[in-house]
Amino acid sequence: MSRTIIIYESRVGKTEMMAKAIEEGIKEAGVDAVLKRATNAKAKDLANFDAVVLGSPTYHHNMIQPMQTFLFEMEKANLKGKVGASFGSYGWSGEAVQMMSDTMKHIFEMDVIEPGLKIQQKPDENGLQQCREFGRAIAEKIKGK
Ligand SMILES: Cc1cc2nc3c(=O)[nH]c(=O)nc-3n(C[C@H](O)[C@H](O)[C@H](O)COP(=O)(O)O)c2cc1C
Repeated sequence: MSRTIIIYESRVGKTEMMAKAIEEGIKEAGVDAVLKRATNAKAKDLANFDAVVLGSPTYHHNMIQPMQTFLFEMEKANLKGKVGASFGSYGWSGEAVQMMSDTMKHIFEMDVIEPGLKIQQKPDENGLQQCREFGRAIAEKIKGK
């Protein structure tokens, strides 16, 4: 069975809400998904997954610190050709999402779904629906490979 790991970090919980709704969407489409916080994640956690989905809010025009650290950890895994996608909650600029996508594409040579999903502040029902749809799109991409 195809498997996806969603690695995210969230300070106030808004990116976490997105992560859980994306997980729901992936599972609705019949693909297995697990959630893990970046703070606790290691490169070896990425073995045996077909897709890696990264979530980070934007703080000070950057990714949240544990995600920055995790991207260096991720460099130890061989992710070439695997599906990647990014998401995150933001206030006004939201650079973190593009930064994660760019790193997955240019450094890890992953097959990245673009654009990533940005939701301003706390996702409302419409935002959560967008997250579930994003999850379904990730699942369909894996199934098509
Ligand atoms: C100190 C501070 C700095 C922030 N810097 C940015 C920023 O540079 N760009 C932006 O879009 N949002 C910024 N935000 C807003 C957060 O990205 C936003 O509140 C987001 O929803 C937090 O998500 P989380 O609950 O997953 O941590 C900042 C918030 C705080 C408190």
